[in-house]
Amino acid sequence: MTDSTDAQLAAQYEAYPYPARDPKEEAKRLIIGSPSHLREIDYWVFGARRPQAQPLQALVAGGGTGDGTIMLATHLSRRGNAGRVTYLDRSLAAMRIARARAEARNLTNIDWVQGSILDLPTLGLGPFDYIDCCGVLHHLPEPAAGLAALEVVLAPGGGMGLMVYAPHGRTGVYMVQDALALLAPPDQTPAARIEVGKRVMRHLPESNWLRFNRNFSDHISGGDAGLYDLLLNPRDRAFTVSDFAALLGTSGMAVAAFMEPMRYNPATWLPDPKLRARAASLSATAQAALAESLTGNMSVHIAYCRRAAEPVTRADPMADTAVPVMREVPGSELVKSILPNGQLPFLFDGLRAPVSLPPQAPAILQAIDGERTVADLAAFFAERGMAADKFRRAWAEVFAALEPVNRVLLAAPKG
Ligand SMILES: C[S@@+](CC[C@H](N)C(=O)[O-])C[C@H]1O[C@@H](n2cnc3c(N)ncnc32)[C@H](O)[C@@H]1O
Repeated sequence: MTDSTDAQLAAQYEAYPYPARDPKEEAKRLIIGSPSHLREIDYWVFGARRPQAQPLQALVAGGGTGDGTIMLATHLSRRGNAGRVTYLDRSLAAMRIARARAEARNLTNIDWVQGSILDLPTLGLGPFDYIDCCGVLHHLPEPAAGLAALEVVLAPGGGMGLMVYAPHGRTGVYMVQDALALLAPPDQTPAARIEVGKRVMRHLPESNWLRFNRNFSDHISGGDAGLYDLLLNPRDRAFTVSDFAALLGTSGMAVAAFMEPMRYNPATWLPDPKLRARAASLSATAQAALAESLTGNMSVHIAYCRRAAEPVTRADPMADTAVPVMREVPGSELVKSILPNGQLPFLFDGLRAPVSLPPQAPAILQAIDGERTVADLAAFFAERGMAADKFRRAWAEVFAALEPVNRVLLAAPKG
């Protein structure tokens, strides 16, 4: 189903491809993030069991100006993986920018398709081992119809990386959207609406909740595309954890992992043992919902998902053959942030969450290179005087602390 609001949405992304990106910047940096970092896909979707060399066929649905596509295609190409990334978006303007970025990087492993997610079942594409749909479902007339169309082209045993808006951390956004809908109704041209939006932002009353909300800068530093996407979007809706779980359920999908898992674990926010015990008795979805309600600052949900009937079985981090890998920040860098008390401070949209590490953590983190197995690491430390059982205890603690913050993962097997 499409409707007049959907036509306005299409006009928005044609006029203001989102997010604003300059292909020249590709020479300077690779934008990375979640979902769709290849090491995350390896671990959170496939449990570090799918061989690295096995071609990964991926779809980026609603690819916009290319962030997810460029990152994943770059990661696959660096790995020498023969899989391809299919980029799909309705917006020709967005696709042009994404293509220019790929050309700037000489990426030849992307297929470009202009079209609608809703038409996926009849486009002759797929099946895909992995589907990225980041910041798109919440703009569709019927998110469940969009998800259902994605599920049709998902290969057996495959997974998705989804991002949808979450309500509490967007406090203030919908109030301003309501005000702008009155002053600049969505049937006006995008340019006219931007002009009104800028005027309103210049004098936004100091009591407006958006002014207290530190989660956003798009309307300030994201250019016209950022302002439009956040405050003038003709349709966006936010999903609580429970709403999101219900949405997934409509297509037989379920969360394999929220990013970052620690944030969605209510125990992180409940130091009181009695309350922790009570929280632990709740279902996985209720626990995540509790964390969302307690923290009150989640503005998006990023989750790796699989069919509910095909849950992931992750590799054992204590197995001799397991290969620890840093997700992105090398161990030598990460250790610089460890405080004298052994804690590593994390900040989740302004919310502090210190993670306690054992004294051996700095040495272990610096030895993780994505090649050494746990057995290799044990031998490496034995040569340096750390008994095998001591290493294993410390490694178990390091993994238990840093896997839930998505910093230390297990690598997929090579062959
Ligand atoms: C907020 S942007 C997100 C872009 C990108 N996924 C990212 O995270 O940077 C939403 C994108 O979804 C696209 N889109 C919206 N509805 C669509 C549909 N039915 N089929 C395909 N693309 C759609 C828009 O054109 C836009 O580029």
